[in-house]
Amino acid sequence: MIDLLEDTWAREVPHEQFARLRREDPVHWHEVPDNQGFFAFTRHEDIIAASRDPELWSVELGSFFIRDQTPAALESLGLTLVGMDPPKHTRYRRLVSTAFSPRMIRKLSQDIQRRAAELASSVARKGYEVDFVEELAARLPLQMICEMVGVPEADEDRVFEWSNRMVGFQDPDFSTSPEDGQNAAAEIYAYCDALAASRRESPRDDILSALVHGEVEGERLSAHEIDMFFVTLCVAGNETTRNLLAGAALTLIEQPEARAELVAGLDDEALWTTATEEFLRWNGSIHNFRRTATRDTEMRGVPIKSGQKAVLYYTSANRDESVFPDGDTFDLRRTPNEHLTFGGGGPHFCLGAGLARTQIKSLTRELLRRYPAMELTGEPKRMRSDFINGIKYLPVRFGE
Ligand code: HEM
Repeated sequence: MIDLLEDTWAREVPHEQFARLRREDPVHWHEVPDNQGFFAFTRHEDIIAASRDPELWSVELGSFFIRDQTPAALESLGLTLVGMDPPKHTRYRRLVSTAFSPRMIRKLSQDIQRRAAELASSVARKGYEVDFVEELAARLPLQMICEMVGVPEADEDRVFEWSNRMVGFQDPDFSTSPEDGQNAAAEIYAYCDALAASRRESPRDDILSALVHGEVEGERLSAHEIDMFFVTLCVAGNETTRNLLAGAALTLIEQPEARAELVAGLDDEALWTTATEEFLRWNGSIHNFRRTATRDTEMRGVPIKSGQKAVLYYTSANRDESVFPDGDTFDLRRTPNEHLTFGGGGPHFCLGAGLARTQIKSLTRELLRRYPAMELTGEPKRMRSDFINGIKYLPVRFGE
């Protein structure tokens, strides 16, 4: 039986179910207990088509979550960049896009490199044994997004805890209930309001100042809009890159030959570029985003009514055999590698893709430079979520 809800993912990524769906039923109707069902889009080509047609496939109508939201939650989600449709989306995205431009990322890359080297060195000081998630994978993305947005270093841990509670509501290790996720949101909004007030008084060279002083169609953003922006950046900037880094570490442990090849080619830029893309394809950190049909339509001959939802499974697209020969093999030199880990293109294509790529390459390389040996010292723990591909605990021993 096909089951793509959270219990399945807590055990493993259901690659076999996806292979079957791509082959036999690429636009599969999936029931959801106590909620409306959805169409699961599992082919690369279909996910790209839906992502690039926001007029037909709205994110604003029903949000990006599989489950329908309360009207109040839907209204708030509609204020996030990833939750709004063009043309509004285009105007809001412009406010922050320069902070993520290739030029800015090149400027930041020295900083990323320095922090990655420092984190890698900290492993020896800690006796070579660490929880990879908490002490390495979480740190670099958190430091970088806090610096870019304007959160003082002393508050980084609070942002970390709030963002865990907000996305971890399906997992009892992070929080006890969806209410706790909402409490975390309320706390982070209050924090953001106070920080925004200080930037209103004295702007700095950070994203929060740009938001506070920026205008859309001649109007300043409301406090709630700034909150939602802030939360999107903190969550999107942290959770995704952290999980990708943890996934890459686990892959290196499971695939010692690939690890040896990377260690032998530490200064081979071309190898590290293709390897980074393969880490992204192999272990994408967001399984899916949802869209809602704005009118009656069809996909591969399957009729879809206005208001029905489609869930775009990037995880499945990344193994689509019509795009990736030998897709179930991890191949450090795979070229081309048109993975959909950052989305299927179109207006919402991940704003932080360049930032994430630079972090993944830098931290992984700095670790292997110092410690070519890596092994598990216990069982990794996967996050229970049908949305985020999370590893919440990864005990690793490094060796020289
Ligand atoms: C490996 C790490 C990352 C992954 C896998 C990832 C994945 C994604 C995906 C799948 C989307 C939606 C694409 C779509 O709907 O078509 C997205 C959007 C977004 N990502 Fe990322 N992301 C990552 C890192 C980051 C980082 C570091 C940031 C920095 C703040 C970031 C900021 C955003 C934002 C703001 C959006 C919404 C863009 C919009 O709606 O215009 N992401 N990301």
